[in-house]
Amino acid sequence: MSTTTEHGAGPLELLVRQVRAEAAGINAYELVEPDGRPLPPFTAGAHIDVHVAPGLVRQYSLCNDPAERHRYVIAVLRDEGGRGGSRAVHERIRVRDRVAVSAPRNHFALAGGARKVVLLAGGIGVTPLKAMAHSLQAAGADFELHYCAKAPECAAFGDELSALGGHVHYHFDGGDPANGLDIAGMLARPAADTHLYYCGPGGFMKACGDASAHWPAGTVHCEHFKAPTAPASTAGSATAGYIAQIASTGLEVSVDAGQNLAEALQAAGVALETSCQSGLCGTCKVRYLSGEVDHQDYILDEAERQSFLTPCVSRACGELLVLDL
Ligand code: FES
Repeated sequence: MSTTTEHGAGPLELLVRQVRAEAAGINAYELVEPDGRPLPPFTAGAHIDVHVAPGLVRQYSLCNDPAERHRYVIAVLRDEGGRGGSRAVHERIRVRDRVAVSAPRNHFALAGGARKVVLLAGGIGVTPLKAMAHSLQAAGADFELHYCAKAPECAAFGDELSALGGHVHYHFDGGDPANGLDIAGMLARPAADTHLYYCGPGGFMKACGDASAHWPAGTVHCEHFKAPTAPASTAGSATAGYIAQIASTGLEVSVDAGQNLAEALQAAGVALETSCQSGLCGTCKVRYLSGEVDHQDYILDEAERQSFLTPCVSRACGELLVLDL
């Protein structure tokens, strides 16, 4: 996955111009500049942080055509079993409200050079892939979007996706994945120069990850919208404390065994912004200059992990970690 920040702008105060019931439990929110100015550009796969309520910030993918400069569109599935962010969006955000959002950031960008692109969407995971589909269509690329959902009434953006014509394929399973798309069969034999992008709920992510594990390095890209439940790390740092040193000042912050690095830094007065606190959004990403890291994020690729870490979930494996702060 490549990681880019779209531009250097600060938070935006946008107007909710439209709220649209897109599918069962899914609302789409169209956000515009109140004075009609063009919005900062974004690329397919980008997301924004949405300040839903004081102290409640959530990340949502931009799902409209990245060529559009007059609006950002996000789609939110109301998740009654979630942490409350989607419920708050559905209950609080109304037409004509002002909402603070971050500039777009992209940890799920389209890689160049593919001969063919396969987009696999599970439920609300369609949002970043829909933006990709718009970009790929505009570029005249060879691509297919497979949209897996429980039933037609659960599938969002019917009108816009039908405009993409034969590129879009629906798979409805009636609530039983065994009746849906045969992901393992579909991904069994990767064609040359084909790239795969997928996004969806936990079971779907696992199925796609397992089925594409043998694909060539660098051809598989995914984005989690919720941190998977994974066993706790058994790396040495989980059971031993260490020192995080701030390179610019020499400040040494002692991080206890099991203590969260971001919290330890913030408690020591180090300015560090966090948002998702799950290794998903990249807000806290920091360069490190030396030390071994137990990476626990879901956004950095191997090359980035040589220089960066996300202290909201990652930590040192050794006794000293020097941060470029
Ligand atoms: S706060 Fe989101 S990755 Fe660390």
